[in-house]
Amino acid sequence: MGASNVHFLIWILCALCLRSSLSSGFSPDDNFLIDCGSTSNVTVGGRLFQPDGFFSDNLSNPNGKFVSTASKVSSSSPLFLFSHLFQTAKVFETTSEYNFKIKKQGRHWIRLYFYPFVYENFNLSLAKFSVSAQNITLLKEFQIESGSIIKEYSLNVISSNLVLTFTPMVNSFAFINALEVVSVPNELIPLVVPTVEKIVESLGNRALETVARVNMGNETVPPSNDTLSRLWVADGPFLMHNNQAVAGRFVSNLTRVNMTTDSEIMAPRSVYGTATQLGAEPDANANINVSWSFDVDPGYEYLIRFHFCDILDLSFGSLFFNVFVNSWMVKDHLDLNNVTSGIMGAPYVLDTIASSIDSSKFKISVGPSSFHEYSAAILNGLEIMKISDSRGSLDEPPFDLHSKNSSNVKVGLIAGLVAGLVAAVLVTLVVVLCRRRRKAGLVGYLKEEENFGVNGREGNYVIGSVGYKYPLAAILEATDHFSESLVIGHGGFGKVFKGMLRDNTEVAVKRGASKSQQGLAEFRTEIEMLSQFRHRHLVSLIGYCDEQNEMIIIYEYMEKGSLKDHLYSSELPSLSWKQRLEICIGSARGLHYLHTGSTKAIIHRDVKTANILLDQNYMAKVADFGLSKTGPEFDKTHVSTAVKGSFGYLDPEYLTTQQLTEKSDVYSFGVVMFEVLCGRPVIDPSLPREKVNLIEWVMKRKDRDELEEIVDACIVKQIKLDSLKKYVETAEKCLAECGMDRPTMGNVLWNLECALQLQGDERSSHGKESSSQADLSNHWEVSVLTTQFSTGSAVDIAGISMSKVFAQMVREDMR
Ligand SMILES: *[C@@H]1O[C@H](CO)[C@@H](O)[C@H](O)[C@H]1NC(C)=O
Ligand SMILES: *[C@@H]1O[C@H](CO)[C@@H](O)[C@H](O)[C@H]1NC(C)=O
Ligand SMILES: *[C@@H]1O[C@H](CO)[C@@H](O)[C@H](O)[C@H]1NC(C)=O
Ligand SMILES: *[C@@H]1O[C@H](CO)[C@@H](O)[C@H](O)[C@H]1NC(C)=O
Ligand SMILES: *[C@@H]1O[C@H](CO)[C@@H](O)[C@H](O)[C@H]1NC(C)=O
Ligand SMILES: *[C@@H]1O[C@H](CO)[C@@H](O)[C@H](O)[C@H]1NC(C)=O
Ligand SMILES: *[C@@H]1O[C@H](CO)[C@@H](O)[C@H](O)[C@H]1NC(C)=O
Ligand SMILES: *[C@@H]1O[C@H](CO)[C@@H](O)[C@H](O)[C@H]1NC(C)=O
Ligand SMILES: *[C@@H]1O[C@H](CO)[C@@H](O)[C@H](O)[C@H]1NC(C)=O
Ligand SMILES: *[C@@H]1O[C@H](CO)[C@@H](O)[C@H](O)[C@H]1NC(C)=O
Repeated sequence: MGASNVHFLIWILCALCLRSSLSSGFSPDDNFLIDCGSTSNVTVGGRLFQPDGFFSDNLSNPNGKFVSTASKVSSSSPLFLFSHLFQTAKVFETTSEYNFKIKKQGRHWIRLYFYPFVYENFNLSLAKFSVSAQNITLLKEFQIESGSIIKEYSLNVISSNLVLTFTPMVNSFAFINALEVVSVPNELIPLVVPTVEKIVESLGNRALETVARVNMGNETVPPSNDTLSRLWVADGPFLMHNNQAVAGRFVSNLTRVNMTTDSEIMAPRSVYGTATQLGAEPDANANINVSWSFDVDPGYEYLIRFHFCDILDLSFGSLFFNVFVNSWMVKDHLDLNNVTSGIMGAPYVLDTIASSIDSSKFKISVGPSSFHEYSAAILNGLEIMKISDSRGSLDEPPFDLHSKNSSNVKVGLIAGLVAGLVAAVLVTLVVVLCRRRRKAGLVGYLKEEENFGVNGREGNYVIGSVGYKYPLAAILEATDHFSESLVIGHGGFGKVFKGMLRDNTEVAVKRGASKSQQGLAEFRTEIEMLSQFRHRHLVSLIGYCDEQNEMIIIYEYMEKGSLKDHLYSSELPSLSWKQRLEICIGSARGLHYLHTGSTKAIIHRDVKTANILLDQNYMAKVADFGLSKTGPEFDKTHVSTAVKGSFGYLDPEYLTTQQLTEKSDVYSFGVVMFEVLCGRPVIDPSLPREKVNLIEWVMKRKDRDELEEIVDACIVKQIKLDSLKKYVETAEKCLAECGMDRPTMGNVLWNLECALQLQGDERSSHGKESSSQADLSNHWEVSVLTTQFSTGSAVDIAGISMSKVFAQMVREDMR
C-alpha cells in the first residue's frame, strides 16, 4: 500500500516535470546545475542550482575546500544576474575530477563560472590551473585576476561518463564557482559545415567554445528569455565606429517574428525581434557597411553563425545585402524573403567556418547589395564558436604545421615525394604566416570589463563557406514530393530518388527509411566520412536534411548508375574490357585514397559492384560509406567490430576473427574484379550447384587453366591474354585466405594499370582527353593541397593523378 502510494507520487512528480519542460520547449536529458561550495539552493534565471552534494547519486564529486564572499559582481556587468552563483567557490589543491553519469550521449554544454575573490588565506586571483574534459583541453594555465567570467563549451560526449578534471599548476591551486553540464538539442550544431573550396568540415567530434553570443539591437537577452538558457549580450560594445558615429540603427518588433519550434532552439524571439539595421533611406548611409569586431585566437578555426529575421517594415527600397567576415564574402546578395520562402518574419540561420590564421580580430559586416538602389542590410544575432584543433585543444598556442604533417602522412612512394614538395611549400607558408604571438589576455565569451578595441589589424586569411543542411521543403521540391517515378535505387537504408535543385543541379537523394538507432548511426557516419574525404573517385556529398525525423543525404548525381547494372540483368549495353579496367582502376584509386589519404585509414566495409557508381563518362566513384570505420591506429593492427557487410563479398578472415583491417576491403575488391570479368552475380542460386558461388567456381576453373571459360562472353574476344593473366593473378591475390598475404590497394592499382598497358597502347580519344585533364587537375590539386594542409583537413595525396607516372613506370617494368 505504502509502496503504491510512493509510485503514485513519483508518477505525479514526473507528470509535473514533463509539463514544465514542455512549456519551456526543450528538456535536457542531462541537467547538472551546481553551485559549487554552496550549502543552499539558488535559483538563477528560473533555474535551480544545487549544492555539490545533491547530485551525489550521479556525480562523484572531488574533495575540495569551500570558500565564500560577501562581495558582489558589479551591477553594470551583464553577469550581475549570476551574482548569487559567484558568492561561493570550491578550491582544489591537487588534481581533482568531477565524474558525471551521462544519461544521453551526444553534445553537452559545459559552463564554467569564475569570479576570483579573497577568502582567509586563499586569494583566488592567484589561482593558476588547467581544465580538461574527455581529453579536450578547455583551459590551459588559466588565471583570472579580476572581473567575472562564464566559459561555455559544447562537447560530443561519447561515453556514459564525463570526467571534468581540474589540474592546479605547481605551487598553485584551482577553483570553480559554479558548473553546468547540460544536454544540447541535436539540431543545434550541424554535423558538417563546408568551408571555401567546398571542403566540408565535420564538426561531429570537435569541441566548441562559445566566444561570442550577441543580440543585435543593443539589448541583452537574459537566459530566462531563452528555452536553452543562453545569455545573449548587447551588440553595442562590439560595434565599430565610422567617423565617431555608429553606422547602424537599432530596430525592434517582437510581434513580427514568426517562430517555429526549430527556430526556438536556434535563438529566442527576443533575439530575432531586435536588430541592427543599415540603409534603405534615400539619404542615409548609402554605401557603407555596418561592422562589429571580435577578438579571436589566431590559429584556430571558428564556426560563425548569423541569425537573420526581417522585422523591418520598409516603406522605401528593399532588403538585399552582402555578408562578410573580414574581407571574405560569406554571402552576396542575400534575399531574406527568398530564403524563407516568402514567410514574413521567419528566422534564417547562416553558418560558416572561418579560420584566423594571422588575425586576432574578426570583423563581421553586413552591407547593402550594390545591385539595388536604396537597399537595406540587417543582422539580428551572431554567435562565434571556436573549434577544437587536431590536438583536441581549445586553449593552446598554434602548433607547428610542418613538423606534424611530415611525420604523420602515410602515403606511397610517389605520393611521398609530392608530399615532400608540398611540405617545402608549407614551410615557406608557415614561416610567412606564423609570425604571430600568443595573446596574453583571455577572451571569455562574457568577460566583464572588456576593452573592445576596434582598430585591430584585419586578417586577410579568412576562409569559409555556407550551405550544407537543406530544408525539407527544398528536397520535397527537388524530388517532386518523393515521387515514385523518380526512384533510381533501393537499399537497406531506404530509397534513392533523382532530384533537381533550384539551380538545376541534378542530385541523388537518399532517404532513410526510419530513424532507427542503427540507421541514425550509419547516417551520421556517412555524412562525416563524405565530408572529410573528398576525392575524384569517391561520390561527393552535396548536403543533408534531418528535419522532422528525416534522414536524407544528397549526393552528386551519377548518370550511369551502378557498375552492377552494367554487368548483368539489365538492358544496358555491355561494357568493353578497357572500360571495365578503367572502372576498376578508378574504384581502386578511391579505395586506396580511403586507406592512405589521412593519418588514420578508413575501411569502407561494403565494397561491392552496387556501391561503385558511374558518371556520364563512365568514371567510377565509390559510394555508400554508411558502414565505414576508422582503421587501426598505428600501434594496433586491426579494429574489432561486429561483422557487417554484404553476403558474398565478406572477407572470411574477418568473419572468423571479427578483426577488421584494410585488407578486408581488398578481399571484397577481389570479388568485384571477378564479377567484372565474368559478368555474373557473386551468388546465383539459379545456376548448377558448382557454379552458384562465383568465387568457388572461378577458383576451380583457374586451377584447370581454363581461364577463358569463365570470362563474360561479351568481352572474351577483346581481351589480350597477357592482360587477362595479370588481372586474374591480381584478383586472386586479393582473395588470399590470410589478410597479410593480400596486396594493398596501392599494389592492386599498380597491377591494374599494368593490365591496362598490356591490353595495348592505342588509347581511345576519350582516354587522351582524360589524361590531359589529369595534367590540369594535377596543378589544381597541388594548390588545394596547400590550403587543406593549412586548415588541417584531409589531404588528397593518393588522388593526384598518377596515370602518366604509372604509364611510364609500367613501361619500364615491362622491359
Ligand atoms: C534543494 O532543492 C531540492 C529539490 O527541490 C530539495 O530536495 C532540497 O532539499 C533543497 N535543498 C536545500 C538545502 O534547500
Ligand atoms: C540520478 O539519475 C537517476 C537515474 O537516471 C535519476 O532518477 C535521478 O533523479 C538522478 N539524481 C539526480 C540528483 O539528478
Ligand atoms: C590578490 O591577488 C591580486 C593579484 O596578484 C592582488 O592584486 C591583490 O592585491 C591580492 N589581494 C589580497 C587581499 O591579497
Ligand atoms: C582519453 O585518452 C586516453 C589515452 O589517450 C584514452 O585511453 C581514453 O579512451 C580517452 N578517453 C576519451 C573519453 O576519449
Ligand atoms: C548600447 O546600450 C548601452 C546601455 O544601454 C549604451 O550605454 C550604449 O551607448 C548603447 N550603444 C550604442 C552604440 O548606442
Ligand atoms: C510590428 O509588426 C507587426 C506585424 O507585422 C505590425 O503590425 C506592427 O505595426 C509592427 N510594429 C511596429 C512598431 O512597426
Ligand atoms: C508562420 O509560419 C508558418 C510556416 O512556418 C506559416 O504557415 C504561417 O502562416 C506563418 N504565420 C504568419 C502570421 O505569417
Ligand atoms: C523577455 O520576454 C518577455 C516576454 O516574453 C518580453 O516582454 C521581454 O521584452 C523579453 N526581454 C527581452 C530583453 O527581450
Ligand atoms: C564592406 O566590407 C567588405 C569587406 O571588408 C568590402 O569589400 C566592401 O568594400 C565594403 N563595402 C563598403 C561599401 O564599404
Ligand atoms: C527565389 O529565387 C529563385 C531564383 O532567383 C526564384 O526562382 C524563386 O521564385 C524565388 N522564391 C521566392 C519565394 O521568392
